[in-house]
Amino acid sequence: MTDARIAGLHGRRVWDSRGRPTVEVEVRLVDGVTGRAIAPAGASTGRGEALDLRDGGDRFGGLDVHRAVGSVNHEIAPALKDHDAGDQAAVDRLLADLDGTPDRSRLGGNALVATSMAVLHAAAASAGVPLWRHLAGGRPVRVPLPEIQIFGGGAHADRRVDVQDFMVVCPAAGSFSEALDWTAEIYRAAGALMRKAGKAQGVADEGGFWPAFASNEEALETLTRAIESAGFAPSAQVGISLDVAASQFGSADGYRLALDDRTLDTSALIDLLGGWIEQYPILSVEDPVGEDDHEGMAEFTRRYGHRCQVIGDDYLVTNAKRVEAAATGGTVNAVLVKPNQAGTVTEAFEALRAGKDAGFGTVVSARSGESEDVTIAHLSVGWDAGQLKVGSFTRSERMAKWNEVLRIEESLGAAAEFSGWSTFPFITQSVNATRQ
Ligand code: PGA
Ligand code: ZN
Repeated sequence: MTDARIAGLHGRRVWDSRGRPTVEVEVRLVDGVTGRAIAPAGASTGRGEALDLRDGGDRFGGLDVHRAVGSVNHEIAPALKDHDAGDQAAVDRLLADLDGTPDRSRLGGNALVATSMAVLHAAAASAGVPLWRHLAGGRPVRVPLPEIQIFGGGAHADRRVDVQDFMVVCPAAGSFSEALDWTAEIYRAAGALMRKAGKAQGVADEGGFWPAFASNEEALETLTRAIESAGFAPSAQVGISLDVAASQFGSADGYRLALDDRTLDTSALIDLLGGWIEQYPILSVEDPVGEDDHEGMAEFTRRYGHRCQVIGDDYLVTNAKRVEAAATGGTVNAVLVKPNQAGTVTEAFEALRAGKDAGFGTVVSARSGESEDVTIAHLSVGWDAGQLKVGSFTRSERMAKWNEVLRIEESLGAAAEFSGWSTFPFITQSVNATRQ
């Protein structure tokens, strides 16, 4: 007989992929099953995000998490005892109420998200089904299109180039597994080009090649050549996805492109990105202008939203209300969903649902600071997000997620539907037709 009431909760300090402390939570239910999850951490964070609770002081650069672990063990554990792990919405509401702050700064977004995800794992284990299936609840799902980083820049590479992520997407692949095969070849080809040019200098925070380029555009050229030299047709088979993360190098007052030694106003930045869209096989652009620049976002989406996906990350911070406002204002056509930006699983799901209601693309995303935790792989399938962004194609905190989706795809067998082009509904038919 299953009994999904929470018997106990334990928080502990573990370490993330950047060697920084983070919070792990283990939940035990009355029926004896357990669930476990680890909080990720961002580096290029939006201002509206849930805040992690860090200890401050000298130890580990002030990033220690004893206070957040204390939140779990001394406040959250007694409050959640005897609650039904199967009622995620009620658990998450209780967590938010217990914290009592809009930015989750009292108990810590890191304490909350690790607890929320651990409860979710325990509920699925108690129901005896894989996490993605527990989330899907019988609704049809697609296996997501992976967005995979080849060069890392911005805040993840000491600002060596201004643009944060140079990624590829393979919407013409026949399956998730084939999209990974293609990406592996492109990653290898990019490495070979870097070595040949004497630019092989290791990797950035998410495992993409260190961007030893003379300009942002050189990265785009190299990536396009890598796609071609791996044997794929740019645009028709493989596209480029950029995370500009523009808030990190400016605001509506001016954008400082350090590498190109130029300062641009909003319209010049939009023109620059537009020029890249004309010239390179770009299918998706994230945070093209600063997080406060609603007019710039709307202008960019009006001009390019019919031919590429425009994702709000720092701009929407996984907040359903912001997604609804963006739908009304036409400022983006896709939403990035990071559970720790929202603070709980339920709030992340609400942001994703608001995106779907608006006809947006939806992308479940990791953070630059990650771990072996694979929860987001299950969220991306179980919520039928259509897309998953995890970083590069190296390093096990990234590969763990890709590998988990491979297992899910295999378990679906013939029933597995890969999202592919279907995840870009706003790219108009005529543009799409040339790519088939
Ligand atoms: P972050 O970067 O985790 O450092 O915020 C990821 C992103 O901007 O998408
Ligand atoms: Zn981003």
